[in-house]
Amino acid sequence: MQVFVDCDPGIDDALALAYLAAQPEVRLVGVGTVYGNNAVDVTTNNALRLLELYGLQDVPVAAGAGRPLVQPPHLAKGVHGGNGLGDVSTPEPQGVPVAESAAELLVRSARSAPGELDVLALGPLTNLAVALSLEPELPRLVRRLVVMGGAVQAPGNVTPWAEANINNDPEAAETVLGAGFDLTLVALDVTMRTLADAVWLDELAAVPGERAAVSARFLDFYAGWYGRVLGERACAMHDPLAAAILVDPALVTSSVDVPVRVELRGQYTRGLTVADLRGWPADETDGRPAVTLATEVNSAEFLKRMLNALR
Ligand code: BDR
Ligand code: CA
Repeated sequence: MQVFVDCDPGIDDALALAYLAAQPEVRLVGVGTVYGNNAVDVTTNNALRLLELYGLQDVPVAAGAGRPLVQPPHLAKGVHGGNGLGDVSTPEPQGVPVAESAAELLVRSARSAPGELDVLALGPLTNLAVALSLEPELPRLVRRLVVMGGAVQAPGNVTPWAEANINNDPEAAETVLGAGFDLTLVALDVTMRTLADAVWLDELAAVPGERAAVSARFLDFYAGWYGRVLGERACAMHDPLAAAILVDPALVTSSVDVPVRVELRGQYTRGLTVADLRGWPADETDGRPAVTLATEVNSAEFLKRMLNALR
């Protein structure tokens, strides 16, 4: 399978890239970067260094948006560290980003393999919204889009209602979720129920090899932040869960196909993902295309596969 990843590395983005790097059936055709967990120059540098660490130095990295469509960005340095990777130092990258923007590389990749490209979006959806403005046929050119983002019935994480990736660019998210992609939404509803707990983190710490060791150090920092909000040594595996679902949709054990909108105006609820869970026929609703909202996942199986990917 041909995969394009748009991301903001980011500790869990790093784990997602490590997961994909270990899947023999995945051919990564490009990585786009976006502001989010850190500024875009930092996330771009991180994408380059991570791909080199995982032996994927030939994958083109394209820098994307440095800010959301409308509002200023909200960076997550407290969660992911001042360098976006838990303040863990890794070798400086040898490569540089390509000249194209992330949106341009995505559009070119989709046009060159119509109906064959799978896209994984792990950051704010700004690059995807820009790509749609460059190529309105993108939803037909792409085979499948998996988005890590949103909080439908679960609480948010940046505000009580909004999840970070959607909250950073609600306008872009509203456009992408309504564009007609074959889209699976992997929201906090399932990612916050897929925690790497103390036992799993200890198992990872015992895995030999550079990839596992670096990941364990990233996750030490991440679990430090999550530990404070969760009250236990654990962390949420948002982005790698979405990556695993892209590779194997059967990890989603229950889902609903529903239109999802993004609240753009609420004083307290801007960035909230609003799913129409009524289950009414399309002619009784406003006709917005449905997306597949994952409601249950096989977390144990995913965590086993994640550990295997780092072995
Ligand atoms: C999402 O926000 C980012 O901080 C993470 O990398 C993940 O993509 C979780 O809300
Ligand atoms: Ca991310």
